[in-house]
Amino acid sequence: MLEKIKKIGVLTSGGDSPGMNAAIRAVVRSCSFYKLECIGVYRGYQGLIEGDFEELTARSVRNVINRGGTFLKSARSDEFRTKEGRAKAYEQIKKAGLDALVVIGGDGTFMGAIHLQNEHNFPTIGIPGTIDNDIAGTDYTIGYDTALNTVVEAIDKIRDTASSHDRLFLVEVMGRDAGDIALNSGIGAGAEEILIPEENKGIEQLLFSLDKSRKSGKTSSIIVVAEGEKSGKNIFELAEYIGDNLKGYDIRVSVLGHIQRGGAPSCFDRVLASRLGVGAVEALMRGENKVMVGVTNKVVTSVDFEVAIKGQKPLDEELRRVLNITTV
Ligand code: F6P
Repeated sequence: MLEKIKKIGVLTSGGDSPGMNAAIRAVVRSCSFYKLECIGVYRGYQGLIEGDFEELTARSVRNVINRGGTFLKSARSDEFRTKEGRAKAYEQIKKAGLDALVVIGGDGTFMGAIHLQNEHNFPTIGIPGTIDNDIAGTDYTIGYDTALNTVVEAIDKIRDTASSHDRLFLVEVMGRDAGDIALNSGIGAGAEEILIPEENKGIEQLLFSLDKSRKSGKTSSIIVVAEGEKSGKNIFELAEYIGDNLKGYDIRVSVLGHIQRGGAPSCFDRVLASRLGVGAVEALMRGENKVMVGVTNKVVTSVDFEVAIKGQKPLDEELRRVLNITTV
């Protein structure tokens, strides 16, 4: 192990996700285990620019493993997107005597880390924290499992109304350009149709399927719509189009929104976050840099930031097959 790293900064950036606190906790506790100093950076890269730092010890992360959000707070910093902003951040890094940084977030967070590394040659390790599960080089991102459970619970409740009133519900879920949340929650909640960005079957096909299932005796249906799906219509326009073309449907729209990002993390996310927090500190101590730690086939691994951001994460073909069979 390299002796060099003595003081590690940790921050959360981009959209918060359940389990970020558990990841910070694991980073802090690993530092304490390996006798390293740990500095918490508040409000992501914006706090890095402003020097909004606080020393963290094992005591600082008491009772946070079960809490949603991030106690270090998060931000999407416009200033850090500029070279000048990053130079200011580096000044603060030097002033605080940091030897390395652990950044917890999604692709925007890793892009910021790449710039910091390229311009100032500063060691940085990433931990994937986003509900979207849209990062390559890891099977799961922290927060995704909790979000799925939140969505499934919400759809189960919506289904009570759908079936009591013989209604068709369109439920919009998050995920940015990825359909993972929609596909998995849709299968888990037994949705009749799932619209995802990775596969645009076209609206006519959707109308055909809905008509077919109505003719087969179905009186209520749930369509899970990923926010990034590519039909070219937003969810309200979609609902209107269906209403105009399939008469007799009582249609409602439900946009789940930010409830998907909140709440106590699931056990899965807590364990994942703990493994990746430990993995990140140990990777830094081994001298790794400019990589993200993830879990692939149950093993903690590291991949280049570039791979994490730009690598392909194709939709699970097996799931697609399961979906086709279970929605017939
Ligand atoms: O990346 C997480 C995410 O929740 C996406 O699913 C969503 O598109 C976006 O963030 C929403 O961002 P904001 O909270 O800034 O509106």
